[in-house]
Amino acid sequence: MAGRYRSDLNWSDVTPKADFLSRRRLMAGAGALAVGAMAGPAMATLSANGFTTDEKPNSFEEISGYNNFYEFGTGKDDPARNAAALTIDPWSVKIDGLVDKPGDYAFDDILGGVTLEERIYRFRCVEAWSMVVPWVGFELADLLNRVGVQSGAKYVAFETAVRPDEMPGISRGYLDWPYREGLRLDEAMHPLTLMATGLYDQPMPKQNGAPLRLVVPWKYGFKSIKSIVRISLLDQEPPTSWNMANRREYGFYSNVNPEVDHPRWSQASERKVGGGLFAARQPTLMFNGYEDQVAGLYTGMDLRQNF
Ligand code: MTE
Repeated sequence: MAGRYRSDLNWSDVTPKADFLSRRRLMAGAGALAVGAMAGPAMATLSANGFTTDEKPNSFEEISGYNNFYEFGTGKDDPARNAAALTIDPWSVKIDGLVDKPGDYAFDDILGGVTLEERIYRFRCVEAWSMVVPWVGFELADLLNRVGVQSGAKYVAFETAVRPDEMPGISRGYLDWPYREGLRLDEAMHPLTLMATGLYDQPMPKQNGAPLRLVVPWKYGFKSIKSIVRISLLDQEPPTSWNMANRREYGFYSNVNPEVDHPRWSQASERKVGGGLFAARQPTLMFNGYEDQVAGLYTGMDLRQNF
């Protein structure tokens, strides 16, 4: 596909210590893509593919300074303050359930077999704020195809690390840990569904879910689970953290939908982070603007019932 490139990065190349090298490799490897993220024909091509928005991305400081990551506290600046304690090297991901090649996969090995690319996505939190984020990552489908999804699999479940010594929020019991999320298999295999490993030209900041987090741009942000240590292929819908916490307020699907309000607030509009105190709210788009690409996944479903 145009604008994609084979990655020769591995984890040791993208640690902060090797920033300069990783940036050079990323730029060299990406060719016009990385430059095109800012301006030019490469981006237009991607926009035509429906993968990348041409809206202006939020700054690195905004994206890494205003976060939800309850393992590190519930304040928007708690993750940036506390996540430095998270050990991300070594890191491995257990892939199990209905797969041909289950196992504990080192992060290096995962990166070795996938194609990294930049995707500039809108990101809409269920709390009615939004950002535009230039992620770097690979399609989840690439990884799932590599481990071999068996025919009985219908859902994918994800879990975040639980490290009481490194995560001050764990002892607070805000949620029933580990943080859990899930997708239907066809949602997981959709080309928009990304496993992100970085943003801008940086490795993923810890507060954004280093070293590996999910990004599902047409769903509310809480579906985009951070710092993943387990991926399971299942034949049944898995329990998910916010749905377990409050079934009435947070559905399994949680597709962005301006017509279905949260029981306690409207979802019709959103505040773009960094817009300033007096900026107008912007209208929220069906499926967060990805309707053309994903509406077909939900044909015949009542989106009020399956919120
Ligand atoms: N993943 C974990 N493990 N823990 C969390 O608290 N918060 C979710 C999601 N993933 C969360 C998580 C919510 S509510 C949002 S809006 C996004 O992460 C925020 O991602 P960001 O901080 O990168 O913007």
